[in-house]
Amino acid sequence: MQGPIIPLPLSDWTAAASDASAIEALEAGRVLYFPQLAFALQPDEKSLLRPDLLDPKVRNISLDGQGFVKGVAGDAALQARVAAMVGRFRQQAIGLVHGLLPGYTPHLRLAPTSFRPTRVEMRAQSWRADDRRLHVDAFPSRPNHGERILRVFANIHPDGAPRTWRVGEPFEDVARRFLPRARRYSPLQARLLHRLGVTKALRSEYDHLMLQLHDGMKSDLAYQQDAPQLTMPFAAGSAWVCFSDQTPHAVMSGQFMLEQTLHLPADRQYNPQASPLAILTRLAGHPLV
Ligand SMILES: [Fe+2]
Repeated sequence: MQGPIIPLPLSDWTAAASDASAIEALEAGRVLYFPQLAFALQPDEKSLLRPDLLDPKVRNISLDGQGFVKGVAGDAALQARVAAMVGRFRQQAIGLVHGLLPGYTPHLRLAPTSFRPTRVEMRAQSWRADDRRLHVDAFPSRPNHGERILRVFANIHPDGAPRTWRVGEPFEDVARRFLPRARRYSPLQARLLHRLGVTKALRSEYDHLMLQLHDGMKSDLAYQQDAPQLTMPFAAGSAWVCFSDQTPHAVMSGQFMLEQTLHLPADRQYNPQASPLAILTRLAGHPLV
């Protein structure tokens, strides 16, 4: 069997070409790993790699679609330098996705780009927010009705520290394990949560089940320990791409990462039947959105 990590030799962000086997692997929930695809820092950007660049009130530095940067502790000049670095990564990440996955290009919706300068190991948080536990991405306040979460990551650690993940079993195995334990969907509760502003859109049954998988995995310590998984150190100077709503992942250590999220309607995948929406719909036996 193919492992969960697919190494690819690309070393130029603008030179990616479409490759049917890589696309199939990505849509099956594997991680495309580019060990030689470094995000190049300008000489004056090395000084931006320090954890106290982050405003202590927020979790990440982010650059929105209008080029506005949030989360930087510093003056306008410093913010502009961070925006330039993160914006350059955004362009490279988009170029990579367009080259690798040209069929997605007309349908992608860009999310903010983030820079995470803090050490993963230092974060203390509740079990539900603890990304050191295996999970698939699902966000309580942001229902997405099956829209995909495609993410491009780059480890830019200046001293060579890897960003270490655990990568888990195929999505359908997760779903078969945790769906029987999932609480039932309540349309009434979903309407109430939306009316109260807890969710930004109506939480569909799909969103409910994704949250049940996310919480089911994170709250099950035996699963965390015993689930099929691979520990993967993503090297400094590398990049990787996966659907984080499909690939079970846990972030164990690392510091200084850039990340770009792109959203894609599930029916615009090369193989829509491989999507979490299709898999959960098939297992549930009725429409979920
Ligand atoms: Fe995650």
